[in-house]
Amino acid sequence: MVHGIGDERDGARPGVDGLPGGGLNIAHEAADRHVARGRGDRVALRCPGRDGTVRTVSYAELSGLSGRFAGLLHRLGVERGERVFTLLGRVPDLYTAALGTLKAGCVLSPLFSAFGPEPVRTRLAAGDGRVLVTTRALYRRKVACLRGSLPGLRHVLLVDGAADGDEGPGTVALHPALAAADPDTPCAPTGPEDMALLHFTSGTTGRPKGAVHVHGAVVGHLATARHALGLGADDVFWCTADPGWVTGTSYGIVAPLAAGATVLVDDGEFDAERWYAILRDHRVAVWYTAPTAIRMLMKAGAAVARRYDRPALRVIASVGEPLNAEAVTWAQDTLGLPVRDTWWQTETGAIMIACAVDAPVRPGSMGRPEPGIEAAIVTRTPGGGVRVADGPGTVGEIALRAGWPSMFRGYLGDEERYRRCFADGWYLSGDLGVRDADGCFRFVGRADDVIKAAGHLIGPFEVESVLMEHEAVAEAGVIGVPDPIAGETVKAFVTLKAGHTPSEALARALIGHARARLGPAVAPRALEFRDALPHTRSGKIMRRLLKARELGLPEGDLSTLEGNGDGRR
Ligand code: WT7
Repeated sequence: MVHGIGDERDGARPGVDGLPGGGLNIAHEAADRHVARGRGDRVALRCPGRDGTVRTVSYAELSGLSGRFAGLLHRLGVERGERVFTLLGRVPDLYTAALGTLKAGCVLSPLFSAFGPEPVRTRLAAGDGRVLVTTRALYRRKVACLRGSLPGLRHVLLVDGAADGDEGPGTVALHPALAAADPDTPCAPTGPEDMALLHFTSGTTGRPKGAVHVHGAVVGHLATARHALGLGADDVFWCTADPGWVTGTSYGIVAPLAAGATVLVDDGEFDAERWYAILRDHRVAVWYTAPTAIRMLMKAGAAVARRYDRPALRVIASVGEPLNAEAVTWAQDTLGLPVRDTWWQTETGAIMIACAVDAPVRPGSMGRPEPGIEAAIVTRTPGGGVRVADGPGTVGEIALRAGWPSMFRGYLGDEERYRRCFADGWYLSGDLGVRDADGCFRFVGRADDVIKAAGHLIGPFEVESVLMEHEAVAEAGVIGVPDPIAGETVKAFVTLKAGHTPSEALARALIGHARARLGPAVAPRALEFRDALPHTRSGKIMRRLLKARELGLPEGDLSTLEGNGDGRR
């Protein structure tokens, strides 16, 4: 099942090693095997501090720390297959917790630290989180108030905790507990099909879906890090994605460590000067970022870029949202390298289509399928099957031949929804695309209503539900509106209950409520009141129509629209 292994510039054996006694575990591939190969002194993590100091963690240290974490989970009685959530920024303890969880045979579920209490609660409940690893401040702000509603959450490990119980019952100070644990706690004898990661993602309707990934996914992480991103064991690698999103785990943690590279761990916000200084001072060779970040650098101007050199930078790649051609050529002209596009999803686990390092860059095109991946443009047939487009130039849904190593193995507790993602042996991505005559894929748009704000996938339903908690709100419809930097931002349309009247102050109050509940990254930026929202005859809000009207676009097929067309019920 090993596919698409790239060049072996590091002299390592192709692909993954597997556990010494048989089986496969991501933590072994990411840490222990480098020690076993005599590479334990190499730097795994390079963590610049705010004060200019740099902390490094070697592969041997990471192996020991993750062993201690696994030992701690055993001591707490956490069992194999149980879920350990993290609510952390990019800090060294994240790596300890992530690999330690996998080593213990538990399942890692990372949360976005900018989430408010509501998305945190929904995911901890849906995933039946047994353990949460976080900071005291995040715990106080987002979780302490939820403890009563989460009886399954037994232990909260605080990376900056001073003593057990200092933030209430069931809180554990992580560092003293690690110090008392055994660094040589052995790796659980997991197999390639055992569940390893649980990533929540959003759809058009319903609650967030928990995409299940297995230990075997590491084969795909490693192969694509080498082939698409050109990553070697001697490189410093920087992934700017937050660990709460799949990129921050697959390529922020697993892929570069499996490749034996040095991971640059930076927890700061975007700041053009600081980012250029990181690329220079830490000799970053491979940089994986997002189109929004490139557009923010463009906004900061070429003059800043020219003040810093990038002595080791070989590859710039991006993911998560459409990469506009201007960003590619700006980077080529200003940074001396193009941005290489990569396309994948939470469900695919690893890069599927890429403008790989050995391919020419065509601005506006995402590139070709990675080795071992079969991709096609398909249309769904009325009988529930798919028809594969025979020639280039047809717009349709991007589909992947099912069965690659990092493919999700289910949506937790929702067999039916998982089944609906597949037809005739293809996984249907929900993205629209087109294939060029040269075999490259172009992104056309989403087939559903989800929003991409600064590369973050936001489910409109989650935002609408929180707005509707407010006593003044009767109904809410949420869409993405274009933004020159972030790609899209969240906008809400709201109808009010009798007795409430639209006002600037109420709009501000509703946005404030959403920010407190959802966190600023998910809450609407803009909000407008309406007398009525357009519905289908079956009663669903027609977000597509709200969006078309907002953007002045053709309204499309209105045959399912209820009532007289303006949405009055
Ligand atoms: C959705 C998946 C996989 C890591 C990022 C987020 C959009 C992803 C591209 C790209 C245009 C892209 C798609 C996809 N997307 N890469 N190169 N060009 N759009 O994973 O949160 O599951 O989002 O991001 O719409 O379906 P995710």
